[in-house]
Amino acid sequence: MLEKIHSAPGQSTSASDLYDWDELVQEDRVHRLIYTDPAIFQAEMTHIFGAVWVYLGHESQVPKNDDFITARLGLRPIILLRDSQGKIRALFNRCTHRGTTLCRKDKGSARMFTCPYHGWSYLNSGKLRAVPWPDGYACDFKDAKYNVAQVPRVDSYRGFIFGTLNLDAPPLIDYLGGITKPIDEWLDRQPNGKIAVCEANRLKFKGNWKLAYDNSGDGYHVVFSHRSLLEMENRQADVANKGMSYYKGSPDSAPMYMAYMGNGHHFKDKRPAIEKRAGGLWAVEGPAPGTEHYQDELRRRYGGKAEDILDLASSEPVNINVFPNFSLLGNHIQVFEPVSVDETNVTWYGTAVVDEEGALGGAADDINALRMRTMEQFPNFGEVDDLANFEEIQRGLACLEDEWVYMHRGLGIPGRVKTDASGIITAPATDEAFMREYIKEWKRLMKAQPNIAVKREP
Ligand code: FES
Ligand SMILES: [Fe+2]
Repeated sequence: MLEKIHSAPGQSTSASDLYDWDELVQEDRVHRLIYTDPAIFQAEMTHIFGAVWVYLGHESQVPKNDDFITARLGLRPIILLRDSQGKIRALFNRCTHRGTTLCRKDKGSARMFTCPYHGWSYLNSGKLRAVPWPDGYACDFKDAKYNVAQVPRVDSYRGFIFGTLNLDAPPLIDYLGGITKPIDEWLDRQPNGKIAVCEANRLKFKGNWKLAYDNSGDGYHVVFSHRSLLEMENRQADVANKGMSYYKGSPDSAPMYMAYMGNGHHFKDKRPAIEKRAGGLWAVEGPAPGTEHYQDELRRRYGGKAEDILDLASSEPVNINVFPNFSLLGNHIQVFEPVSVDETNVTWYGTAVVDEEGALGGAADDINALRMRTMEQFPNFGEVDDLANFEEIQRGLACLEDEWVYMHRGLGIPGRVKTDASGIITAPATDEAFMREYIKEWKRLMKAQPNIAVKREP
């Protein structure tokens, strides 16, 4: 049963009358208000996080019937689950009685959820199951309005689960569009084209969520913002090409690039800088304490197969960014979660190889142990630099009278930014072309009127 969400009489849910969006988002610059105005943030929760496909979680986090995790759709708390019939659902984590959250755990297994407040209980299909002392009620609890509201459209792409409240949103596959190609390539390097999500580095910053998305493909800041990490990586004489060192010198003439794929999605591809040979990826993996010993041990143990095994433990040199809240970078899934206009959670989920068919000859645990070491590195030694930048931008944007944020690197230079026949825009690694393009899409969405609905079991 679908419930259309209507705006109250005389009140528009449209953000279109909030501001002149063409004034706030111009070709070369955006107004500080898009990062600082609580009213714009509130509108984004409907016009962005209600209107497009938003990443909710991965199928490996709910592998069996009755498994659940809790997640967020914008600010809405969600229980993402596989119900007792095996169907993946995204329930609003909200009791239909007086509104309290039904589930306060991060993950688990449950055939039903009992509200901690007055004990109403619900099946994991969202259907109301029982109400304590029902003889105190004159209503008919079979009325669908007492069943938990849920996200009307939930779909997954190769294990990645997305949801949207917008009945008019295109199918997920069309929304992802060209970004499926790098996602496929990212998955297809894994045995059986699969990964399992493991534990996470959970970080937060006092800044607007778009600051993280702006930065997700920014190749301009790397040598400046991450100087301490680069120096650490390059301290050892024989590792001059390791880690992020391909940003040294002149990154725009290095064989890496950024590509804008439409619908706000973009892709930083550093793979062309890697030697195409077994062990080529491991050769550039940033150094981390203890990995040399592990590498030597794996070479001793696996002989000729060791280089492929080491490559599987190495970070994939891509940033694949799916608007508005999902990135694949290295071997991580990074999720951006808005909390308020000036607070954001960034969670870096690790991923593990899975080898149900035994194709890796028992090496999966060794790969995953080393992979865990390589995944510890960037969130701890690099992301902290980025978060400091985001917080300092938010502080800087408190200067009311200095209104504009520029994102015009690469704009107006003939031949620098290229558009191919399929509409994919490519530019050198340090260009801000992807920022200009995604923020145009953001502007389009803020002006548009999504067709928002929730669903309840009949
Ligand atoms: S709020 Fe859930 S039973 Fe009362
Ligand atoms: Fe960074």
